[in-house]
Amino acid sequence: MPRPVSATVSVSALAHNLAAVRRHLDQTAAAASGLPPSIWAVIKANAYGHGIEQAVAGFSKAQGLAMLDLDEAVRCREAGWGGPILLLEGFFNPSDLELVDRYHLSTTVHQREQLDMLARARLSRRVDIMLKLNSGMNRLGFSPAAYPAAHERAQLQQQQGTVGSIGKMTHFACADGPQGVSEQMAVFNSVTHKLPGPVSVCNSAATLRFAEIAVASENQAHWVRPGICLYGASPFADADAAAFGLKPAMSLRSEIIAVQELKAGDSVGYGALFRADRPMRVGIVACGYADGYPRHAATGTPVAVAGIRTRLVGRVSMDMLIVDLDPIPAAGVGTPVSLWGEDGPSVDEVALAAGTIGYELLCALAPRVPVTRDA
Ligand SMILES: Cc1ncc(COP(=O)(O)O)c(C=O)c1O
Repeated sequence: MPRPVSATVSVSALAHNLAAVRRHLDQTAAAASGLPPSIWAVIKANAYGHGIEQAVAGFSKAQGLAMLDLDEAVRCREAGWGGPILLLEGFFNPSDLELVDRYHLSTTVHQREQLDMLARARLSRRVDIMLKLNSGMNRLGFSPAAYPAAHERAQLQQQQGTVGSIGKMTHFACADGPQGVSEQMAVFNSVTHKLPGPVSVCNSAATLRFAEIAVASENQAHWVRPGICLYGASPFADADAAAFGLKPAMSLRSEIIAVQELKAGDSVGYGALFRADRPMRVGIVACGYADGYPRHAATGTPVAVAGIRTRLVGRVSMDMLIVDLDPIPAAGVGTPVSLWGEDGPSVDEVALAAGTIGYELLCALAPRVPVTRDA
């Protein structure tokens, strides 16, 4: 018998979330009498832990897919994705361009060395690029001072036949918080407004809260790049995903594999971090940090046992965690446990209790956890 821990990825929830984002963009564009942007569904990091093949199935109606790793891009093609693919960090060395060419990938260009590599490459067709501006995040991108010259150089390479379309792109540092996007947008607009080409600026937070900046027109195409919201988790600390009509796409489940009866004063788990203040039953669940459940989840982290919410108690260990069975007196060995997802707490609630974000928990699902794909 395998350990009972498993994850289910719902392809229909992925499709539902994409449709919800699409509706939101359509409504924003209609209100502004403009055209809706196209969507690059971001599927980096194994589709935020959900699996590339599941993402290709769930996001079949996206206009494009965006990711980091070349091998994930190849897996998309092998899974039958024929549409645009954008490499969000671009390529790293000249040999990558052979795959960029063979699999017809589009690429971010964020530094001069990438333009050098493109200029020297022997390609069978032009490569479409998104030229990235560092508008204030100071991670990737040409500085505002260097951007116009980089764009000019890309245009020259376009004439020489290595570069295809040239888009304009930036990434926001604070779209999920009170600072918002206005400062970075002001920089982006001042540097790029006279330059031709499609624009891509919005991640999930900006797509959900500032979609008006992505409204397209006959003269100006826009692409948004939502990631986390498409998996049914929230980019915001102050709003949950359900408020945007999103459904969790990953459910992590297990079972109770043992029950302990505690007396008042008994402790449980490593470090004896939790001590019973009265007689109580606790369930031992087959799921630990080696499965991707966060070790820093504290006593009180929500868990559902047989569909009833209860709490984690004590320290999460490598393969097990412990739950309070007081609200579920009938629970025993074999009772189902939902750690997060459809029938449990949201991944964001668990993340909050562990001092992190839903992104990290989804991406950290361990390879040893079997993943089942749900229609
Ligand atoms: C360049 C870029 N675009 C889009 C995204 C998607 O972000 P999110 O998952 O917050 O929507 C990311 C993720 O970090 C990114 O690095």
